[in-house]
Amino acid sequence: MKMEKDEPAMAPVEFWEDRYEAASAETSGRPTTVLEKFVKDRPVGHALELGCGKGDDAVWLAKQGWFVTALDISQAAIDIARKNAERNNVAEKINFKVCDLTKDFPEGDYDLVTAQFLESPFEFPRERILNHAARHVCAAGMLLITTHGSVPPWSETQWETDFPTPEEALVALNLDLTDWTRIFVENFSRIGQKPGSKPGKLIDTVIALERNR
Ligand SMILES: C[S@@+](CC[C@H](N)C(=O)[O-])C[C@H]1O[C@@H](n2cnc3c(N)ncnc32)[C@H](O)[C@@H]1O
Repeated sequence: MKMEKDEPAMAPVEFWEDRYEAASAETSGRPTTVLEKFVKDRPVGHALELGCGKGDDAVWLAKQGWFVTALDISQAAIDIARKNAERNNVAEKINFKVCDLTKDFPEGDYDLVTAQFLESPFEFPRERILNHAARHVCAAGMLLITTHGSVPPWSETQWETDFPTPEEALVALNLDLTDWTRIFVENFSRIGQKPGSKPGKLIDTVIALERNR
């Protein structure tokens, strides 16, 4: 899924680099709602985060006791995320890495693979990446994917609005579902707020699966 209707006239890495270079290093200090909801009671282990942005999810996971490998295409994002981890005294629990997931994927198996809003305004092989990521979830581990299921009310760009249903999003991952137990494959409503904007209703599309074997 593309976030925006018109593709920016630059390479993806430049787009994300510009975005994070222009961004404030301030972060919300809070994890993604869905991550907190579905992970807070799980046994800790090694988590892999795809598209970590400013690092609030990785920091929250590390504070819960997880060891985290956190990836993003943008060096500027990784720099902000690393400082975030240092401020929160969890830098030694997080391995931040610049990685373009369209070209590369880390070795290893993980107790949690999380992709919170791994989205892009470019043609992006998201399902292929997530299908590959699922193969790196170990037995009894969780695959947790959240995407936008509605346009954020404060968005200033034109979005593609053909949001797939959670079931369609699951089918698109092309997983062998006999290997997985469904924990939550549904839309999730929440109130969100962008700094400087009014709070607004958001719909997330959530896929939470646990690997059987
Ligand atoms: C919409 S942001 C979400 C960031 C963060 N997970 C959050 O929820 O705030 C999408 C993130 O995916 C990253 N990203 C986009 N394309 C990528 C790629 N090909 N490989 C790795 N990360 C990518 C971006 O740099 C950005 O940080």
